[in-house]
Amino acid sequence: VTDTTELLLSRIRDVADHPEPGVVFKDITPLLADPVAFAALTDALAEIAGRTGATKIVGLEARGFILGAPVALRAGLGFIPVRKAGKLPGATLAQSYDLEYGSAEIEVHAEDLSAADRVLVVDDVLATGGTAEASVQLIRRAGAEVVGVAVLMELGFLGGRARLEPALAGAPLEALLQI
Ligand code: PRP
Ligand code: MG
Repeated sequence: VTDTTELLLSRIRDVADHPEPGVVFKDITPLLADPVAFAALTDALAEIAGRTGATKIVGLEARGFILGAPVALRAGLGFIPVRKAGKLPGATLAQSYDLEYGSAEIEVHAEDLSAADRVLVVDDVLATGGTAEASVQLIRRAGAEVVGVAVLMELGFLGGRARLEPALAGAPLEALLQI
């Protein structure tokens, strides 16, 4: 355990029974409010972008925007938003995925990615892996290469890694914290 992981862990707050009874929510707002911790997180994720040879950062709405945008700037790369369906104004590609009850859909502007792009996906949490897996499929359908998925924390007990790794086909899933 490094100083950075200790710092990041210390700024994540457990909120019992949110959003429903029995669930412990991992709240990153104390981390975002601490500029030293937020900078350490940004640097750690930007290092992954450099190491994987990424040319674009894709952030997943909403919390992946908060983390991904400063990572893109820090790494000197463009930022591409993957949004929840219906928000992007231009021509989009859409990808549906299953939730525990029902389904969800995410979109990207088709013109934002091409075969020349090597994409690192950034998000706060890997839980079941459904959101990240859908983003990988979406980015591939847009013609780009996925060079990795980087998250602040992985909730290991939900099995997201086992779901996501086959879709990543050898590209790394990097989690700064294992919960
Ligand atoms: C949360 C979290 C991840 C996703 C992880 O997003 O920020 O994006 O769930 O879950 P999964 O691995 O099971 O797909 P959510 O859409 O709930 O909220 P947000 O808009 O605040 O990011
Ligand atoms: Mg999210």
